[in-house]
Amino acid sequence: MSAHSTVAVIVGSLRKGSHTRRIAQALMSVAPASLSFRMIEIGDLPLYNEDLDDRPPAPWVRLRQELSGADGVLFLTPEYNRSIPGCLKNAIDVGSRPPGKNVYNALPAGIVSVTPYKLGALGANHALRQSLVYINMPVMQQPEAYIAAAGEILDESGQPKTAETREFFRTFMEAFARWVEVAGAGRRAERNFEQFMDQRSAVANAYAQGNPAPLDEIVARSGPATFFGPGGGYVTGAGEVQTRYDRDAKAFSPDGASSLDVLQSEAAGDLAFWTGFQNVEAHLGDNPEPVTMKLRVTELFRYADGGWKLVHRHADSASSPH
Ligand code: FNR
Repeated sequence: MSAHSTVAVIVGSLRKGSHTRRIAQALMSVAPASLSFRMIEIGDLPLYNEDLDDRPPAPWVRLRQELSGADGVLFLTPEYNRSIPGCLKNAIDVGSRPPGKNVYNALPAGIVSVTPYKLGALGANHALRQSLVYINMPVMQQPEAYIAAAGEILDESGQPKTAETREFFRTFMEAFARWVEVAGAGRRAERNFEQFMDQRSAVANAYAQGNPAPLDEIVARSGPATFFGPGGGYVTGAGEVQTRYDRDAKAFSPDGASSLDVLQSEAAGDLAFWTGFQNVEAHLGDNPEPVTMKLRVTELFRYADGGWKLVHRHADSASSPH
């Protein structure tokens, strides 16, 4: 397994002594090293209500942010009345809305259903599968995991009591790691930050020609944002930063040009950065002579709404204008 993947783990039981949560821990403990896990808590999510979409409750925002940084989701569900518990359905509903902002979209998923009884919670397993089809999650088909007798198969330290159970857990998690890598390939390509940097370079070039529209497309629309410009001082807040970019672009005229020398760039989950130099040849105002600037730049991006969004820019002069 080459790529490292972060898996969000959602457990559909809220009670402290949950068998389902113990099974989740046991599965994580035997998973391949290529997977790291993040437990996503769902007990504090207010019930989904479309009326709240304009001002989403903080736990909804948290859930959406946590999921947008994941490469896959492992669902563990108890069975309630031959279906899934309401808290789990609510977490699915909250993450899938508002329309067009479904954070589960295209994330590879695995399902483990759990019961202390004999029948393996087949009803919950397949009820969950049904919802995941609609929110467009590719769900691992095999091996299936219907965990019965959940109160008896782990020892006091939470480890599988028998070699057979341990082997099944290991096999399941190895298959899931492969699934996250294979089924997530399209999504990862979509998030390809290297490719995005070509766009960033073109956007910077348009900006140096006095056109802020392509930059507007990749600037964060909400949440935290900062701009530290070469002239000193700073601006914070998405709206304020965007206004500043639009205003500053007016100083440039159409025969300007920009190129980026990227020294370092990397994406991790839903965050990415580049740092390096921006070379700008600009025609400022009525001055017929071009001004050459070399800026030292660091920019941070967050993946949101289906694309990389600029949330922080710091630029200062690496050479005096001449
Ligand atoms: C259950 N339980 C249950 N079990 C099952 O195998 N099939 C079912 O349809 C149901 N239905 C059901 C409904 C409701 C409302 C409750 C509270 C429980 C029993 C369930 O498997 C048991 O409580 C588990 O211990 C729940 O999982 P956790 O909380 O231990 O992870």
